[in-house]
Amino acid sequence: MVERGEPADISGDAPPAETTAGSTARDAPASVRGDPPAVTVFVCTTCRSLGEGASPVDGAALAEAAAAAPRPDGVAIQGVRCLANCKRSLSAAMVRRDGWTYVFGDLAADAAPDLIAGAVLLAAADDGLMPWRGRPESLKRGMVARIPPLSLPKET
Ligand code: FES
Repeated sequence: MVERGEPADISGDAPPAETTAGSTARDAPASVRGDPPAVTVFVCTTCRSLGEGASPVDGAALAEAAAAAPRPDGVAIQGVRCLANCKRSLSAAMVRRDGWTYVFGDLAADAAPDLIAGAVLLAAADDGLMPWRGRPESLKRGMVARIPPLSLPKET
């Protein structure tokens, strides 16, 4: 179970999971491996799916699936209670060390491989931005916001 504020095991020893984009977490370049994690994915554990068949545990299930999914060492998964994106649940945020932060909504309960694939893309991006090309569809349609890093140079 993913506990609040407690990072999941990120050893990445399990076999790779295939994403909707057809890539796997093992496709990650070596540059995303290391400690501390290059990207942390915060998955809301209190989100419930909208519509018929909604379950109050869908967010927790997504967080647990993401924590159990294979991924490179540079990607961490952490459960969090509410990202204030409840109207577009299920929700997750990705924070790249010294890079951009992304908030996603409208995620399906089986979106864990997409979250891992997006985190790998974000961790490997030279400019700190998650590239559009190769990004899973759920992370295109579900993007709510992106937030710049504190180190962003001022625009003139
Ligand atoms: S309960 Fe998940 S964003 Fe609020």
